[in-house]
Amino acid sequence: MKNLTVISCKDHAEIGSVTAKLIAEQIKKNPNLVLGLPTGKTPIPVYQELCKMYDDGNLDCSQVTTFNLDEYLHRGKGDPDSYYTFMHKNLFDHIPFKESYFPNAKLYNIGRSCNNYDVLIEEHGGIDLQILGVGSNGHIAFNEPSNDISDMTHLVALTFQTISDNANKFYNGDINKVPRYAISMGIRQILKAKSIILIANGEEKAKAIYDTLEGAVTPRVPASLLRTHQDVTFIIDEKAASLLD
Ligand code: GLP
Repeated sequence: MKNLTVISCKDHAEIGSVTAKLIAEQIKKNPNLVLGLPTGKTPIPVYQELCKMYDDGNLDCSQVTTFNLDEYLHRGKGDPDSYYTFMHKNLFDHIPFKESYFPNAKLYNIGRSCNNYDVLIEEHGGIDLQILGVGSNGHIAFNEPSNDISDMTHLVALTFQTISDNANKFYNGDINKVPRYAISMGIRQILKAKSIILIANGEEKAKAIYDTLEGAVTPRVPASLLRTHQDVTFIIDEKAASLLD
C-alpha cells in the first residue's frame, strides 16, 4: 500500500527535531541502516539535533553507512566549498558513522566515477532511508527540471536558478564563484530507496512545495516524482506550506 504523509511543522527548528527523531527511530530499528543524506541549509537543524542526541548518549551511528546525494565537480576532501567538507563540518566530525561515501568528483573518468558510486550503493543493499531537500525550482539532489527522468549517478549542468540560489546562500551572491557542474544521484536511483523523507522550509520553497504536492507529476518538477514512491514523508514548515490548499 502507498504511504504518502505530510507532516507540518511550525518552523525550521521543528523540522530539525521531527526529522532527527524519525531518523533515530529507524537507526534503533536497524542499526545497520544505509542512510542517504543531503546538503544545503535545510538539513542543518536535523544534523544539529542528531549531534545533540549523540552527545546525550541517545544515538549510536557506529554501524550506519551514509551515501551523500551529490558533489560539485572537481570538489571533494580538502576543498572548503565541497559537500564533503560541509558534511564533515556539520555531521561526520561530530558523530562516528561506520562509513560515509560521496560521489568521487575528482576522478578524471567521470563516467567510471558515477558507475563506481552506483555499484557501491548496490553492494550495500541499496538505500534504506533517503533524506532530501528541495531546490526552489523543485530539483532534488542536483536533478534539475527536465523532460526526462534521470536514471543513475550522472554529471549535471546546474541551471541558472540553482547557481544563483547557491550564490546567495553560500557565496555572498557572487555567481562566478559557484561551481557550474556536479555529480548527482539520479531520480530513478533516489526512488529505489525503501523510504524517503523530503524536508522544506521558508517562503522561497512554497512554490516548489505547491508544484510538488498539488501540481502534475512530471520531471519538469523533479520532486513531484516522489509522489510515485511507496513510502514518502514530506516534513514542511508553515511558510513552505503556505500555497497548499
Ligand atoms: C542543492 C543540493 C540539494 C538541496 C538544495 C536546496 O542544490 N544539491 O540537495 O536540496 O540545494 O538547498 P537548501 O536546503 O540550502 O535550500
